[in-house]
Amino acid sequence: MISMEPQKSVNPSRPPARVHIETWGCQMNVADSERMLALMKLQDFQLAESEQEADLIILNTCHIREKAKHKVMSRLGILRQLKDKNPGLMIAVAGCVAQAEGRKLMEEAPVIDILLGPGKIQELPSLVADFRRNRGKQIATGFMKTAEAKAIDFVIPLPLEGKNEVSRYVNIQQGCNNFCTFCVVPFTRGREISSPADTIKEQVNAYVASGAREITLLGQNVNSYGLDLVETGALAPSEGPFVDLLREVAEIPELRRLRFTSSNPHDFTKPLADLFKEIPKLGKYIHLPVQSGSDRILTVMKRKVTVAEYWERLAWLKNAVPDMAVSTDLIVGFPGETDDDFQKTYELVEKAQFTFIYSFKYSPRKGTAAARFRDQVDETNMVKRLAALNALQDRITIKQNEAEIGQTRRVLFHYASQKDPQVYYGKTEHFRPVRIKSGRDMIGKEVDVHILDANKTALEGTLVCEAV
Ligand code: 5AD
Ligand code: SF4
Repeated sequence: MISMEPQKSVNPSRPPARVHIETWGCQMNVADSERMLALMKLQDFQLAESEQEADLIILNTCHIREKAKHKVMSRLGILRQLKDKNPGLMIAVAGCVAQAEGRKLMEEAPVIDILLGPGKIQELPSLVADFRRNRGKQIATGFMKTAEAKAIDFVIPLPLEGKNEVSRYVNIQQGCNNFCTFCVVPFTRGREISSPADTIKEQVNAYVASGAREITLLGQNVNSYGLDLVETGALAPSEGPFVDLLREVAEIPELRRLRFTSSNPHDFTKPLADLFKEIPKLGKYIHLPVQSGSDRILTVMKRKVTVAEYWERLAWLKNAVPDMAVSTDLIVGFPGETDDDFQKTYELVEKAQFTFIYSFKYSPRKGTAAARFRDQVDETNMVKRLAALNALQDRITIKQNEAEIGQTRRVLFHYASQKDPQVYYGKTEHFRPVRIKSGRDMIGKEVDVHILDANKTALEGTLVCEAV
């Protein structure tokens, strides 16, 4: 059930408290922050305009790559000065660093009043209330049990400051079962738990009613959505529960675009690729992380797909939509990666012609299998490989963007520039950012744009038809 109005705890004699949330890391964290904000609003907290006027500051942290804890500690050092001036200030650390470090983090940083892992977001209001009732520091970590996850009284998350309301995220799955050897996510977010399809549809409907036109369904491994529900008998087996979910959500009439991330090639099926042909709302873009172009490295990463199988999935997609745009994630310098392995990654990027890549230097994460591998690659080599890969991708992206000049593209507009309200930003079906100038309100509109110019980061265009 989505609940807009759970029980409030209002104290009329107290001025409204204000909350400020800082969000680091992935889209999942953005979705979690929006939920925390909504939960606190139900407790009559208001959004603080700045951290200086906040009564509660929440750091929603990310643990995926290097110096995660270090970044949190240095931010806490600055917040301690704020707390010295305002002893009533409550400081909460949420997210994956909170889960991974737990009580130890609280001991090292006594400025933290409340610590909660990503599986305990629902408990935020009671943790805050207990802290305010002088019940001492509050800690809630650990993973949600399936039953708990099902019983969650979902609230409609609120957009964070500066986030547009046209494009919203809906979390459809917690955790991950894959245990890729480099990845900390199964340790910080636990095993996969899928949300019931009805709850997801209710949430999408609520967003659409409030003006959203694009929804991105989020999970660490969305392609395996619902497999746990099939196992428990809550869903009947079919072409795949994720395929079924996409079909159902896409039927919502006002929804213009439906996206999903992140896909794992291992669980990516042909029926899912074919869906891009069947449902135009899915657009012509997908993010499909490959991580490496070397089979040897993919095996040690436990990705469970070969490079050939990755190409097979790209072929399914191109078969469904010939001009499909694909982006990917890549890690350079995974333990044992030789020049030859890296060359294979380089060649894959050259051949695949991705629209863009997210490329990372490998960072050992405590608790993961790869952190214990002995043949770690030295930093100089990693930096060199990363730079080579990024330079290659920059050339590809520029070439692709320049080829857009002269084309007419369907663009959904998300928001206006704060400096110049006549400047609007949107995305093509291929997920390329577009900027136009218009005297009309373009927010939430999907229209044809004639592309006039391009650079590495965006396209520039003009409306084909001013009469929208
Ligand atoms: N080191 C470097 N990159 C990582 N990623 C995940 N874990 C690590 C790590 N230990 C990257 C992967 C993943 C993306 C979200 O972050 O490429 O797809
Ligand atoms: Fe991490 Fe692999 Fe799960 Fe993605 S699929 S969250 S990389 S373990």
